[in-house]
Amino acid sequence: MRWTVSRTGLADTAGDLLVFPVFKKDDEADLKPLQSQTRGLQGGGPALSALIRKAGFSGQAESLLPVPCSGVKAGWILVVGLGKAKEVGLETLRKVAGLAAKRARTMKAARVLVQLPGTGAMGFDDRSFARCWVEGAELALAKIGELKTDKKKKEDFPRQGKFLATTARTKELREGMAEAQAYAAGCLFARHLVNLPPNILTPKEMAARARRMARTEGMTCRVLNVAQMKKLNMGGILGVGQGSRQEPRLIDLEYKAPGAAGRKAPSIVLVGKGITFDSGGISLKPGAGMDLMKSDMGGGAAVLGAALIASRLKLPVNLRVIVPTAENMPDGLAVKPADVITMASGKTVEVLNTDAEGRLILADALWYAGRGKPDFIIDAATLTGACVIALGEHFAGLMSNSATLIDALKQAGGETFERVWHLPLVDEHKKEVEGTWSDLKNLGNGREGGALTAAAFLAAFVDDDTPWAHIDIAGPAWSSSPRATGPKGGTGFGARLMARAVQILVS
Ligand code: BES
Ligand code: ZN
Ligand code: ZN
Repeated sequence: MRWTVSRTGLADTAGDLLVFPVFKKDDEADLKPLQSQTRGLQGGGPALSALIRKAGFSGQAESLLPVPCSGVKAGWILVVGLGKAKEVGLETLRKVAGLAAKRARTMKAARVLVQLPGTGAMGFDDRSFARCWVEGAELALAKIGELKTDKKKKEDFPRQGKFLATTARTKELREGMAEAQAYAAGCLFARHLVNLPPNILTPKEMAARARRMARTEGMTCRVLNVAQMKKLNMGGILGVGQGSRQEPRLIDLEYKAPGAAGRKAPSIVLVGKGITFDSGGISLKPGAGMDLMKSDMGGGAAVLGAALIASRLKLPVNLRVIVPTAENMPDGLAVKPADVITMASGKTVEVLNTDAEGRLILADALWYAGRGKPDFIIDAATLTGACVIALGEHFAGLMSNSATLIDALKQAGGETFERVWHLPLVDEHKKEVEGTWSDLKNLGNGREGGALTAAAFLAAFVDDDTPWAHIDIAGPAWSSSPRATGPKGGTGFGARLMARAVQILVS
């Protein structure tokens, strides 16, 4: 959608639907602002308020009520409940904006006007309001099903958004809108990759799409092929990839801070798991639900999305994004349980379960990421079913050796609503992944604490003195049902979280 700011006033601005956010006050809709703004207009004022009350609209967060109003050019007012002013969070705005945008779509409204509420009462500024509103609407409107062959040309609604504002508020609104567009684009880029079927999004294709995105966004991207990874002895990525006819790749994308200050900007490496399909390999997964394993590249998609956001916002950071990508399949040449492989770092690993493949490809990628001694490393991965059992769909697990990263990611999670929950990373779990026949084994001793032993395994490939955080996004990468801010399927979880964390770390 195209978003602008208009100063014409609510009655006279051309549009198809006027969205009017309303607070709840003492268990009733606070209709005073609406009443005074529409006073004297045909179908407005006290008569309109009475109509809205009669319909039982209480201003409850996420409630919607369209009412006709001939006194405004748009003809329709969609009153949307924000809840009690003091309880409105940033995510409330995203959700309400998402629901309003979807209602505008069913009403076939091409041009949507949005009346600004008194943002002061909610405890945040106009910039945050515009940022969350636009982000919520853009995320909600994204569609799935582009591979359906029903070619009936569907018109797309809505196409334009317009905030109704006074002169004083336009600058802040414009900044918020631009930031939101970048965040939404990064998230949607990630979602789209997650939703693509694994026969289309192979490792090679993922690399090609990363390359194309890097080019259009003005970043550089290198892709290592099998021969190049062999030179680096990347036994983890090559080992996992050797069971598939689809060759593995290593995506190495770079965003440089603009300007002269760029050289002094902090260096951050984001690493994301890019398993385009996880069948489990020889330790084959059960058939039921195996299709979900097309989303096993969600971490890789998220870090690419984060890079897109960083570059659109021209963040003062030197960012590197590393995505090891492979397909985990059973085959005559596939890695077997009991195989011992040698990783790029030189460490040997006994593969006890070929379904614990994410940690193997990440081990090489983390080693590769650490070579240039960056200031921070963050990885995101759909790593363990154990994390899904522990935290469910709405929280990612966070394991880290750095208080700075834990704080930044918690704050970023709160603001983006891509929330993380801090879990332990301790010696007891590191002991569990010590090998019998090799340096390490790719399993803990049992299923207990599976997310923690997986993180402990990764820790063996990161320097103790490099601040590093591991985010297990196995739960939130995929949504089993539609939400206010998006359809079911890939969520793009992690792109906004990591971009925001980067912003916090460099500010
Ligand atoms: N990709 C899976 C983890 C996963 C599970 C992601 C559910 C999303 C939803 C991962 O590669 C895996 O299979 N992990 C195993 C590890 C086990 C063998 C130690 C698991 O969690 O069962
Ligand atoms: Zn697996
Ligand atoms: Zn996996």
